[in-house]
Amino acid sequence: MVHPPAVAAVTKAVVPAAGLGTRFLPATKATPKEMLPVVDKPAIQYVVEEAVAAGLTDVLLVTGRNKNSLENHFDRNWELEAALEAKGDDDRLARVRETVVVADMHYTRQGDPRGLGHAVLCAARHVGREPFAVLLGDDLIDARDPLLSTMLAVRERHGGSVVALMQVPSDQISLYGCAAVEDGAGGDPDAVRITDLVEKPAPDEAPSDLAVIGRYVLDPGVFDVLRETPPGRGGEIQLTDALRRMAREGSHGPVHGVVFRGRRYDTGDRLDYLKTVVRLACDREDLGPDLRAWLRGFVTSEAFEAGRE
Ligand code: G1P
Repeated sequence: MVHPPAVAAVTKAVVPAAGLGTRFLPATKATPKEMLPVVDKPAIQYVVEEAVAAGLTDVLLVTGRNKNSLENHFDRNWELEAALEAKGDDDRLARVRETVVVADMHYTRQGDPRGLGHAVLCAARHVGREPFAVLLGDDLIDARDPLLSTMLAVRERHGGSVVALMQVPSDQISLYGCAAVEDGAGGDPDAVRITDLVEKPAPDEAPSDLAVIGRYVLDPGVFDVLRETPPGRGGEIQLTDALRRMAREGSHGPVHGVVFRGRRYDTGDRLDYLKTVVRLACDREDLGPDLRAWLRGFVTSEAFEAGRE
């Protein structure tokens, strides 16, 4: 007799993409920030590709008013494909088509921007009673450094929910959710047990230097908790607050953390975004050599010293 697996497999990813992107105005006046190019791909495509690489096949984008370009990006563009085909431009044609076959894409809207917890709650109907992943678009995880697949394996071993953590300098912890952890998740070398979480604590109130980075594998019980979660920091319904309750009460299984030590790129504000573009472009075979050579010259130039050019 075949027994069902003790823990349901994760197939769905939820990507909140309804933010107003005010840090990037005016670029984001009519374009979602998730569509801003990181080298030559929109940020959202990296995130969707990461989900697919970890074996997730169904991606729900929780969007806001400016959703059209997001949907169009993951859809066919027959006119463009025909034009590239006519020109015999096979490379670019392949790059355009890559964006369509990535995953089974779905969209829902978050009418009022009431916070990350509320965005996740908007996915409840689509997700149903299955565990699911949440990926935040401001954090890009280098495709060479697996994180989500490790988190999915931890969920398979322990059930409950899994949160990605990263050590940050103490003066930066107030930008993130922060976790109190204890070692020894049943001897699992990949996981720590989360005992408490605080959203954006002051440095002297932070329980550790472990910041929540934007990857979660969540038990569907989180929806029940989110429905009862009052607005928290910034007047918004915080995912961190729901997870805090789950970690303390253990009502929907344990909450574990996976401490990520790989390469993470921040695209959340303009300076971090620029650094990310430069770092990723330097790594590229087609652009890297020329860009690195130019950068070397540029940083020693008078224009650089004078802060001009
Ligand atoms: C959100 C979460 C925070 C987490 C961060 C990761 O904050 O609320 O807990 O540490 O993402 O990027 P936001 O950056 O959206 O303010």
